[in-house]
Amino acid sequence: MRTEALTVRFGGLSALNSVNFEVQRGEIRAIIGPNGAGKSTFFNCLTGVIGPTSGRILFNGQNIAGLPPNRISQKGIARSYQITNILPNATTLENVRIAAQSRRHAWSMLTHHADFHDIIDKAQAVLESVGLGEKADELAANLSHGEQRNLEIGIALATEPKLLCLDEPTAGMSASETHDTMQLVRRIATDLTILIVEHDMQVVMELAQRITVLHYGEILAEGTPAEIQKNPRVQEVYLKT
Ligand SMILES: Nc1ncnc2c1ncn2[C@@H]1O[C@H](COP(=O)(O)OP(=O)(O)O)[C@@H](O)[C@H]1O
Ligand SMILES: [Mg+2]
Repeated sequence: MRTEALTVRFGGLSALNSVNFEVQRGEIRAIIGPNGAGKSTFFNCLTGVIGPTSGRILFNGQNIAGLPPNRISQKGIARSYQITNILPNATTLENVRIAAQSRRHAWSMLTHHADFHDIIDKAQAVLESVGLGEKADELAANLSHGEQRNLEIGIALATEPKLLCLDEPTAGMSASETHDTMQLVRRIATDLTILIVEHDMQVVMELAQRITVLHYGEILAEGTPAEIQKNPRVQEVYLKT
């Protein structure tokens, strides 16, 4: 995936200003930056929540900038929200099944009886991959906060994405839950490109192969965790405490 001169203006404010960004398939890339840097706006563009003012988003060679969220989802970009996306009164399995179903055509559900079982199997496999295999029949509302965050990742994975955008997946988690979620992200990253907005520097440094630093809607720096850590401009605006 890459962006070319991606720009989003809200009135006189440039939330993103001519951003040229590129991520390789299978990479885990962290996106960091102070509040208001444009991180959520960037995810909103990639997933079709907002249309950019100008610029292109090239995904598998196609410009997807400005397409609606469902079209972008079908092309293979998914997102887990900072704010929960879960149906609390459905079971853990149902939550994932509904997302998996969104990948299939309604007519094929009617004409191919076997597809229903396919989707249940698929949903169960997704639950195993996010460590919730044992909780399939539990109501989502009864899961712990950490389990709910992992279920959100499961819901995103069920749409069979090629690119997954994670918005602060470890927010509000205990140290041990954070550790488990980091392992989970590493495990699912084999065949998947992951963009992760994360405030916990330890998580970022351990998880990401490369880091992009946004500042006032522009890319301030890009590099490996070690390079970013010792970059004086980054220290000045962001890492300095
Ligand atoms: N829908 C919107 N309308 C107007 N301004 C917005 C909107 N969304 C974001 N902004 C502004 O754009 C800038 C970038 O915001 P955002 O992408 O949320 O930053 P981050 O996620 O890095 O904290 C901020 O100044 C924010 O106030
Ligand atoms: Mg944000």
